[in-house]
Amino acid sequence: MKKSKNWKIINNSNIHQLFKEHPYNKKAKQVTDKTNKTLITAALPYANGKLHIGHIAGAYLPADTCTRFLRLKGENAIFICGSDENGVPITVSAAKENVTPQVIIDRYHEINKQAFAGMNINFDAYHRTSCSDHTEEAQKFFLELHQKGHVQRRTTEQLYCDSCERFLPDRYVEGTCYHCKSELAKGDQCETCGKMIDAIKLIKPKCAICGKTPEVKNTDHWFFRLDNFEKELKTFIEERPYFRDNVKRFSNGLLKQGLIARAITRDLSWGVPVPLEEAEGKVLYVWFDAPIGYISFTKKWAEENTNVNNNEWKDYWINDNSKTIHFIGKDNIVFHSIVWPAMLMSHGGYNLPHDVVANEFLNIKGAKTSTSRNYAVWIDEYLELFSADPLRYYLTAIAPEGSDSDFSWEDFQTRNNSELADNLGNFIQRNIAFANKYFDGIVPSAENLSEDAKNMIAEIEIAKAEIEKLLKKHQYKQALQRVMKLSQSGNQFLENEKPWSARKDNIKKCAMAVNTGLKVVEALSLVMAPFLPESSKTLREMLNLPALDFSAWNNNWQLKTGDKINKQTILFRKFDDDEIAVQAQKLE
Ligand code: MF3
Ligand code: ZN
Repeated sequence: MKKSKNWKIINNSNIHQLFKEHPYNKKAKQVTDKTNKTLITAALPYANGKLHIGHIAGAYLPADTCTRFLRLKGENAIFICGSDENGVPITVSAAKENVTPQVIIDRYHEINKQAFAGMNINFDAYHRTSCSDHTEEAQKFFLELHQKGHVQRRTTEQLYCDSCERFLPDRYVEGTCYHCKSELAKGDQCETCGKMIDAIKLIKPKCAICGKTPEVKNTDHWFFRLDNFEKELKTFIEERPYFRDNVKRFSNGLLKQGLIARAITRDLSWGVPVPLEEAEGKVLYVWFDAPIGYISFTKKWAEENTNVNNNEWKDYWINDNSKTIHFIGKDNIVFHSIVWPAMLMSHGGYNLPHDVVANEFLNIKGAKTSTSRNYAVWIDEYLELFSADPLRYYLTAIAPEGSDSDFSWEDFQTRNNSELADNLGNFIQRNIAFANKYFDGIVPSAENLSEDAKNMIAEIEIAKAEIEKLLKKHQYKQALQRVMKLSQSGNQFLENEKPWSARKDNIKKCAMAVNTGLKVVEALSLVMAPFLPESSKTLREMLNLPALDFSAWNNNWQLKTGDKINKQTILFRKFDDDEIAVQAQKLE
């Protein structure tokens, strides 16, 4: 745990020098582009364990779907994330495995990056809070708040473990929650009710490492005056009536209780050193430095990916025309809707979050995921056997948007087989097969549209508009249902028109039906793209259509009479009972 020793503690005067000389400040002050931009973030996962379906369903999948949709709509959207690598969660995991924190973060940063890639969750940047750019950014941020008088030194009572000879910040203490009486409370937050915890008030506290009952000792810490922002935060929440209910409820509840100053430093040797000479040996609280990662990672993204002048990060952070949307799980609400906005208010200059989209929890067969008991569905294990889209489909179909939801392998199988394969896959398959079988793979002409066909064509536009509306409101589950309803209508249309029998006595009617069916297929290749990117891509190849690029949602339909399409391949395979049983068994 040598990090804070290796890394120079930057004192006040140094840092202001640094701030002045920083490349971002030297270069053009102007925002490079005033057009609408959206910065999408998903909670930075701790690099102390593997990702499971709860993580993906909670934050990363909806964020990825959102980004894909906005780009199709022609919005400049970037998707920023990375590993949360500082603080107690990392050191506790390291202590439990008896390795250094560096070993832990290096291991899980890579594993998690791979898992995201496997799920086609495509970040524009996936950086790490352990890197020096981030350290600097977080220190600058702290000093700015300190200078503005919103950070205050106080002597506090902390729990101290005599046998470990250390203070016990945050997760180093476990005990009973004084809010809800759950025994799953940690020194910073209760895992059951989600409320913030003052470790000293925990009922029956014990050291998470050795299990002993800690004692109380004095130590100095720096506090962020959250209480100074009560009024502004009230306005902040009021001005965002579109926040989901869970976010509003939680935030208003906290505001009603009244806010208090929060300690933002810790006695720990792993993390961002507090940039004050008098705070030697202390680091920033991980929940103080981590959200600053959203900024430092955007800067790093700009440095690595944009050519103009590295200044493009400002288009996202310092620009009235841009929006920040944070995707999180419900246990992160307080930090994103209260603490982080207050930090930004205190700092000044940066955009406040436009939206905080929080999901509830995803249970497995009615029980809470437990990583310690290995009761979880791990993404890396899933990807060894299946492709990304079936899980993307299912996790969106059961998204815990308004309330907790439930995963089971059996339900995954049922919905994959009946919805993805039998409804969507089969509809696509049939149309492409008809075109190949009856018309040599050439899109036939449509003359004399039947009433049914006219309705079908109208339904394409209605569906597209409704899906757009739902996606804009972050109602992913309903949006996906609407995609499936379009495909269902398509199947119904084929049943009515029966091109396979019309082909024998009324080839024009058959052509009209296949032409119309293919139009629905093209529409599906677009509207399913935010949810099922890989399948959409394969489908576009089958249709011999160009890949969907920026702003494609606004284009006219492209498939024309006379176009040559390719042969059908199977888009969604069915899962058989045996392979599902093997997975279900793992949870027993
Ligand atoms: N690592 C935290 C968690 O997994 C989330 C951090 S989000 C950020 O709960 F805002 F701090 F970055
Ligand atoms: Zn101990």
